[in-house]
Amino acid sequence: MVSVSSKQVRVGTMEELKSRGCIVVSGGGHAIAVFPHEKGAFAVDNRCPHMGFPLDRGTVKDGILTCHWHHARFDLCSGGTFDPFADDVAAFNVTVSKGIVWVDPSPMPIDRVEHWHSRLKVGLEDNIRLIIAKSVLGLDSAGCDYTAALEAGSHFGMTFSNEGWGQAMSILTCAANLLPDLDEEDRLLAMYQGLRHVATECAGKPPRFAVDPLPAGETRSEVFNKWFRSFVEVRNEDGAERCLRSAIDVGLPQSDISDMVFGAITDHIYLDAGHTLDFANKSFELLDHIGWDHAGAVLSSLVHGMATARRSEELNSWRSPIDISSLVWKARKALPSALEEGQRRRVAWDKEDDLADVMLRDCPSASLDAILEAISEGATPEQMGSAVAYAAFLRMARFHTSNEFNDWDTVHNTLTAANAVHQALKRAPTVNLLRAVLDTAMSVYLDRFLNIPAQRMPESSGIGSDIEDTVQVLFDHMDMQHNVEEVSALIAGSLTEQDRGDRIVAALGHAMLREDSGFHLFQIMDAAIQQYRERRGTHSGTDVLIGMSRYLAAHTPTSRAVGQTFMIAQRLHRGEALYADGPADDRAEN
Ligand code: FES
Repeated sequence: MVSVSSKQVRVGTMEELKSRGCIVVSGGGHAIAVFPHEKGAFAVDNRCPHMGFPLDRGTVKDGILTCHWHHARFDLCSGGTFDPFADDVAAFNVTVSKGIVWVDPSPMPIDRVEHWHSRLKVGLEDNIRLIIAKSVLGLDSAGCDYTAALEAGSHFGMTFSNEGWGQAMSILTCAANLLPDLDEEDRLLAMYQGLRHVATECAGKPPRFAVDPLPAGETRSEVFNKWFRSFVEVRNEDGAERCLRSAIDVGLPQSDISDMVFGAITDHIYLDAGHTLDFANKSFELLDHIGWDHAGAVLSSLVHGMATARRSEELNSWRSPIDISSLVWKARKALPSALEEGQRRRVAWDKEDDLADVMLRDCPSASLDAILEAISEGATPEQMGSAVAYAAFLRMARFHTSNEFNDWDTVHNTLTAANAVHQALKRAPTVNLLRAVLDTAMSVYLDRFLNIPAQRMPESSGIGSDIEDTVQVLFDHMDMQHNVEEVSALIAGSLTEQDRGDRIVAALGHAMLREDSGFHLFQIMDAAIQQYRERRGTHSGTDVLIGMSRYLAAHTPTSRAVGQTFMIAQRLHRGEALYADGPADDRAEN
């Protein structure tokens, strides 16, 4: 005989259930839909796991329950779905005793971390935004920190694109970098945005098959360095990848590995307009988040881009009317002695404004000479990276809207490359990587016409005392197109009080994340915040945020569809009703 425990909920008689087709009961905080099928009865959560439609309004045929909103289908017996865009619906134990149907409202125990990891995998594989958003929220509520989603997303991104590291992996890393400066409610949105880019970029691409390391043998750093750079030089991807993986596998120090990677990237001038170095820098930043254990997989994904990159000395713009490439090669030769001289002097160098000013002028050789002079005066490699990054942000701050719209991206490319050089020099302050300062300074020079005429730096006036009012005005400006100068003036005014910087940065982060932001918006937000962190309360910090906010204002608003999907996921996560009739729980009977 079937026993009925006290916690079970009475559904009704079997006859009633058969005649009504479905009965909804309340128990354990859920509305539970109970259906008759064949000789028994089966119960599932009445809320469709896709978007919450009441499943008692669905149809059961041949043991398959079909939701009527988007037609997801579920095995009535187990709750398992046949449609990956939905999810398995929770099923409950049903007993029939003396013709009475009872349901146990206790949910079946599941491992929530494992569940949401597996849902995220499905979301990434099938490129379904709602599942990705739900999984990010689910992992967070299961107690995982951001690295759980980041690790899963980066593993997927590096495996399922045969081209290796691409824009989406950089976006995902930018999202992780931004987290400490965002409002708490924007942090999961940032991770979701990064992950959905990874899914989109990998969709339909063949996977990448990683190369194994060499059998045990060579362990010397200088040998691996020479081999690797030689393979990249002749664009031999397989040789370069096997060499890099082997160097990591034998346990060479991180500094040796970064020297190999950045050395090969700077053996030629300004690879792929700075993107190659930017990607490499981002890959090291990703490892800062998820750990060096992943170095083999992460760094080897760079090799395809390194081996196939366009070398700027091959470009007409770097050869004519001025042979900038020859100027750069010559300056590169002078770098080691300048660095030696500077290290001998050991004098603190603080002329960033002056050097940035020279970089923004109309003379490439003067710019290169000024860099060499600063180094010989004692400027550190990191300070050189900072100076070229500042000059690049000033280009953006002075970009005139009379330029063609696409030229925003020309200035943007130099800016993000310059920031990457700066960040990489903190990690690897080597003479090899210093070469990238010279290259990037020449890109700043080549962008000079985009500051003719130069936009005047905004006056800082007319800002109210309430920071939240200012933030609201900022959002209002970005609800309309082309409010570039209005936003610029607002940022300049709001930063006259030093303690407002962090709030403004978080607000700008929110303004970016509420849009359908792509590679460039993530890049510039990340670069600006990295630069601003070291410049809080200074005029250069304000200039950096002015440059970034002008670019952001020029590219907003978008349709904001991505954020709407995340909002739906949040409402589902909170148990709110999305279907207009109200939540299933409100309609529980019996
Ligand atoms: S399929 Fe059920 S709500 Fe979408």
